[in-house]
Amino acid sequence: MNKVHLITLCFLLTAIYAFSPLKGQEKFTLQQADASLQHAVQQIKVLAERSAEGMLPKTYDKGKNFDSESGWWTSGFYPGTLLYLYEYSGEESLLHLAREKLRLLEKEKYNTTTHDLGFMLYCSFGNAMRITGDTAAYREILLKGAESLATRYSPITKAIRSWDFDNFPVIIDNMMNLEFLNSASRLSGDRHFADISVIHANTTMLNHYRKDYSCYHVVDYDPKTGKVIKKKTNQGAFDESAWARGQAWGLYGYTMMYRDTGDRKYLTFAKKIASYMLKHPNMPKDLIAYWDYDAPDLPDDSKYAQYVDYRDVSTASLTASALLEMSTMVKGKLSRYYRETAERILYNLSTDRYTAKQGTNGGFLLMHSVGSIPHNSEVDVPLSYADYYYVEALLRYKNYYHASN
Ligand code: GLY
Repeated sequence: MNKVHLITLCFLLTAIYAFSPLKGQEKFTLQQADASLQHAVQQIKVLAERSAEGMLPKTYDKGKNFDSESGWWTSGFYPGTLLYLYEYSGEESLLHLAREKLRLLEKEKYNTTTHDLGFMLYCSFGNAMRITGDTAAYREILLKGAESLATRYSPITKAIRSWDFDNFPVIIDNMMNLEFLNSASRLSGDRHFADISVIHANTTMLNHYRKDYSCYHVVDYDPKTGKVIKKKTNQGAFDESAWARGQAWGLYGYTMMYRDTGDRKYLTFAKKIASYMLKHPNMPKDLIAYWDYDAPDLPDDSKYAQYVDYRDVSTASLTASALLEMSTMVKGKLSRYYRETAERILYNLSTDRYTAKQGTNGGFLLMHSVGSIPHNSEVDVPLSYADYYYVEALLRYKNYYHASN
């Protein structure tokens, strides 16, 4: 090799290193995934001891654990995480704890006042049925719950109603409930649920997304005509901003829609959302997003000046999980890019910066999530769903890439 070749080679290697998502120490390994999962198995036992009888863990702040009733939107995540960790470890005590909480949740199958039934019932009972294989125990609960969710669909707006105030508000988060409907169609053979899901996903593509593939949080429709009345935010910095978790709900939602329907337009859409998120100039180097993609450079008069640079770890967990699934749906360089980006997120989430030490953080795994800054609610705290999607991502990482180990 002559001098020119050598210099060219050095230049190329430097460029590859500089643009590689895994530069530095951010290489995630199977050993790290196992260490994180083993830590999670121990840590969730701390959470179990700290959560009130008859309640479901939600968050922890200033030395105090906060739990919810079964009707709160996050109620399914703790039993879901227990089930994932039971699946990983085979520890029967985790299944036992999950079953105790599932008994509290079952009545939500009759709840027609919320669109969050996918989070509540599918992350919990859906996983219970998949992991235990006990269809007889869970089928009726899942189908009754899906029927309740389907009552919120309107053929006029071509969407499922999210909240029971305003006119007919639909939030991007609702994409996450479609997996529940798709599964109900598979379980029952009744296309009705999956048809609603596809129509809702298509309406959301049309009305929630901007040209740059960022999305609005809320689209409020006229229930009588189906026309859009207003596009706005509830948990983001301002109406035109890109609330971080909303972008991740959409990414995960359209990835899942491709998995469930095989319709490539959803994968194409998810790829565009991923580009918006991952190439965003405000994305921090460690890929743990700020709470809003328009942060930290919010307008000077921002009401949220004190929070501008807060991260939202729940967005990062969700994004890692979705990217890992996307990496199995595409080939070559793009697949490697999604996988390596997810690995980099998991690597960073697994460090002391975001993972709590055993016995601390009220028994939750991850620190530094944000519920809603505009409501000054759950700011810079652990959240049950950040942990759920983190554990899911760790398991996906193991299952997709280390299945034979
Ligand atoms: N689904 C409510 C939230 O993401 O905060």
